[in-house]
Amino acid sequence: MIIAVRRARAICAVLLGFVMFTGFIAVPAHADVLPIITGNERFHPVYARNGMVASQEALASEIGVSILKQGGNAVDAAVATGFALAVTLPRAGNLGGGGFMLVHLAGTGETIAIDYRETAPAAATRDMYLGPDGKADPDLSRNSGLGTGVPGTVAGLALAHEKYGSGTFTLAELIAPAIRLAEQGIRVSDDLAMSLGSARERIGKYEATNAIFYGGRGEAPRTGDILVQRDLANTLRVIARDGLTGFYSGAIAEQIASSVRAAGGVMTADDLAAYAPKLREPVRGSYRGHEVVSMSPPSSGGIHIIQILKMLEGFDIADAGYGSARHFHLLAEAMRRAYADRATYLGDPDHVAVPVKALLDEAYLASRASGIDPERATPSAQVNAGTLPKQESEQTTHFSVVDRFGNAVSNTYTLNFSYGLGLVAEGTGVLLNNELDDFAAAPGVPNAYGLIGGEANAPAAGKRPLSSMSPTFVFRDGKLELVTGTPGGSRIISMVTQVIIDMVDFNMNPAEAVAAPRMHHQWLPDVLRIEQGVSPDTASLLEAMGHDVKTSYASGSVQSIMITPEGLLAGASDPRRPGAGVAGY
Ligand code: GLY
Repeated sequence: MIIAVRRARAICAVLLGFVMFTGFIAVPAHADVLPIITGNERFHPVYARNGMVASQEALASEIGVSILKQGGNAVDAAVATGFALAVTLPRAGNLGGGGFMLVHLAGTGETIAIDYRETAPAAATRDMYLGPDGKADPDLSRNSGLGTGVPGTVAGLALAHEKYGSGTFTLAELIAPAIRLAEQGIRVSDDLAMSLGSARERIGKYEATNAIFYGGRGEAPRTGDILVQRDLANTLRVIARDGLTGFYSGAIAEQIASSVRAAGGVMTADDLAAYAPKLREPVRGSYRGHEVVSMSPPSSGGIHIIQILKMLEGFDIADAGYGSARHFHLLAEAMRRAYADRATYLGDPDHVAVPVKALLDEAYLASRASGIDPERATPSAQVNAGTLPKQESEQTTHFSVVDRFGNAVSNTYTLNFSYGLGLVAEGTGVLLNNELDDFAAAPGVPNAYGLIGGEANAPAAGKRPLSSMSPTFVFRDGKLELVTGTPGGSRIISMVTQVIIDMVDFNMNPAEAVAAPRMHHQWLPDVLRIEQGVSPDTASLLEAMGHDVKTSYASGSVQSIMITPEGLLAGASDPRRPGAGVAGY
């Protein structure tokens, strides 16, 4: 299934000859095209000619590629992969959550953004996460049915199939592999055994969850066991037979709503019947000649990735050297300014006016960047959201798909926490999200990722909580050159930004860019997080510049596919998550 096309190593024969002869490589600053792969890097992508899927679970990637091989396009493959991940990666793949999908159509050159984010039920209120003392109670948004948004995944995948699929496959045919896996069972990987083990206390308390994932005895499966999900197989069968109505009305919708209400929520079957995915205009910006196209609100991701890149364009990042204190300092300063804007201006565009144009205004971003001291950290207490020009989990998962026609899909979807709320709706096998914790429970009260929000992201009936999910495309001269994205809560924005910078400024190939140690700053808390693997010397220099530096665990699961100018596909799955895989042919 995974075919390494060794000819890729001859992409730049002259350069390679130079490398072999001298042992050194002349690295041009700021890649005009994404990096030249010589074969001498430390990490290597998987190569393919015709089509590729990169996802966090190898079996699901293979299912996507089998659809491509049978004549499906990237959207068909993405839909099959999305349903398969609901079975093979139950902590993040889902039917009971929501997400965002970018679709690039090679024929017309257009990029479409599908918003299938979860929505607050009609009975949601501004103060629903406040306890009797009037203070925000995180337990209500994270550990009760009040945190569950009306799921959007099934509607989002069905819309993608109907509008942008090849027409070669029915929805039922794309769901069939997931039904098979749920019914026949999957072999429990180390990753699945570990994640179920660590989630046991939080999610095993729900009866249906315990019955499916802990054998009804509260015992996590061991590596190598077979996990059968019969209720989930039945739900998938109903969707395959009846389409959207099978999930959003009738017995399944009733069971979801009553399970959420039994867990303290307010969802009704009418909320499910009212759910609709939305087509949005993606956000666009440029970075050193590359066009970045990413998700628009209710995701904050695209706007802030472009803001950070734009603020950095005036600094010579390549000259600083990858992993240097200057490199990480400049990134941190741009990030803190972007995340400060996020806390004030971003929310669901159907409920609040999000000043997208003003936030991406070049003069505004230049003035934000002019406040960056290249030598010293600016404390976050001195950085507020900017004055705009006057004018109008970690446990998320991402997959990237490219087909032989040049169509592509970048999809990030989630249940929010690992296994979401942990509640399986009785009799459905569907794990439900706790996505509404992404609302600001009260102004200035952080969500589970420490992100602060204001009125723009306050809970309200029918509103979608602000997200950081950032499915992204990068183009050069109108040609698609990168499909990427990752889970990681608030860090999604900084991770996707660094993948782009690592490839554009440091000429890393996709595998190197995915593996490279990363940093993160989100304005508040005023902490610069570095991953293990960053030099202690860099950390000391950053501290001397005034940063509060903390080393944190490896985070993210970037799934990238680069398209070389010759049309070769070079894919990389983040090594931080076991079991991830690129499949191509
Ligand atoms: N729940 C994480 C996000 O949507 O950003």
